[in-house]
Amino acid sequence: MRILVTGGAGYIGSHTVRLLLQQGHSVVVYDNLQTGHRQAVPSGMLVVGDLNDSAMLDQALIQHRVEAVIHFAASAYVGESVQNPAKYYRNNVINTIQLLERMRLNGVQKLVFSSTVATFGVPDSLPITEDHPQAPINPYGRTKLMIEMALADYCQAYGIGHVILRYFNAAGASRDATLGEDHTPETHLIPLVLQTALGMRSHIDIFGTDYPTPDGTCIRDYVHVEDLASAHVLALEHLQPGSQRRYHLGSEHGSSIREIIAISERITGRRIPVREAPRRPGDPPALVASSAKIRRELGWSPEYRDIESILQTAWNWHRTHPRGYAG
Ligand SMILES: NC(=O)c1ccc[n+]([C@@H]2O[C@H](COP(=O)([O-])OP(=O)(O)OC[C@H]3O[C@@H](n4cnc5c(N)ncnc54)[C@H](O)[C@@H]3O)[C@@H](O)[C@H]2O)c1
Repeated sequence: MRILVTGGAGYIGSHTVRLLLQQGHSVVVYDNLQTGHRQAVPSGMLVVGDLNDSAMLDQALIQHRVEAVIHFAASAYVGESVQNPAKYYRNNVINTIQLLERMRLNGVQKLVFSSTVATFGVPDSLPITEDHPQAPINPYGRTKLMIEMALADYCQAYGIGHVILRYFNAAGASRDATLGEDHTPETHLIPLVLQTALGMRSHIDIFGTDYPTPDGTCIRDYVHVEDLASAHVLALEHLQPGSQRRYHLGSEHGSSIREIIAISERITGRRIPVREAPRRPGDPPALVASSAKIRRELGWSPEYRDIESILQTAWNWHRTHPRGYAG
């Protein structure tokens, strides 16, 4: 298939591009490099452009005779979305509608969309299934939910088939440690913990130690970035114009912050200093996915089944690339 990957120079996008190429698909990456990295994309495949540039989007869709789009490009910092919601509504909502319009007008009828556990807010029950009510508690989650709703309408009215993939916490790096997580600023727990192990940070903050969890710290569900990539390839293979599906991508296992730190100390062989801090507003105590639906319907079978193996790939990346793609 000929596929346009928006945000393909970013963390999850670059791993997915690599797998698509390995499976024989033809790929063009469309990315403004706002948070992505030129080095994460094979040479000759990158179009540097912004989603708000309709002429450039048209050109990419037409020139490459694109049949399907995987849409990773977004702004994805929860805290920033609270401080600067305008950026999030513009980039995640307006620019995605712009993309849908260019797809519609150019006859591209298939889309895989990156959504998030943040569309659920504080869930009533665990594990979170696809039909759990969605009640996001920050602008980031709301922008993603708005697009989920728009997609249902675009499918019904214009026949744009789509698969919504809601990721839990993406983690890890490519098996050969040549692709990995490189965000500035970094806000994700595992890179922060491993940067602390490397001595690049003095300590790691634990926000809240009095949650109703076994060790008092928040629990999250970490899923390996290469397993996310394989889910996108499966989603594409099952995607038909006019059809709509939504799936959760997680490991179905929760790890607490203290567990992540303890396992990281074992893997790295280094002590990781912590500082206990008050809870942050809006952090749910525990988020764990049910991924039974995508396993059952698409045969998704994650390769990384335990947090140790996920952390090991992350450590292989961070210790060989302490400054990310810069070296
Ligand atoms: N990382 C996670 O744990 C996680 C969890 C749930 C959902 N998601 C979603 O997955 C997607 C990818 O996340 P990521 O962690 O790889 O983020 P990332 O920041 O590494 O990648 C996003 C990419 O999109 C590009 N981009 C952003 N706005 C653009 C625009 N207007 N035009 C063109 N390119 C643009 C960036 O340059 C970057 O390369 C996002 O949509 C995010 O909301 C991520």
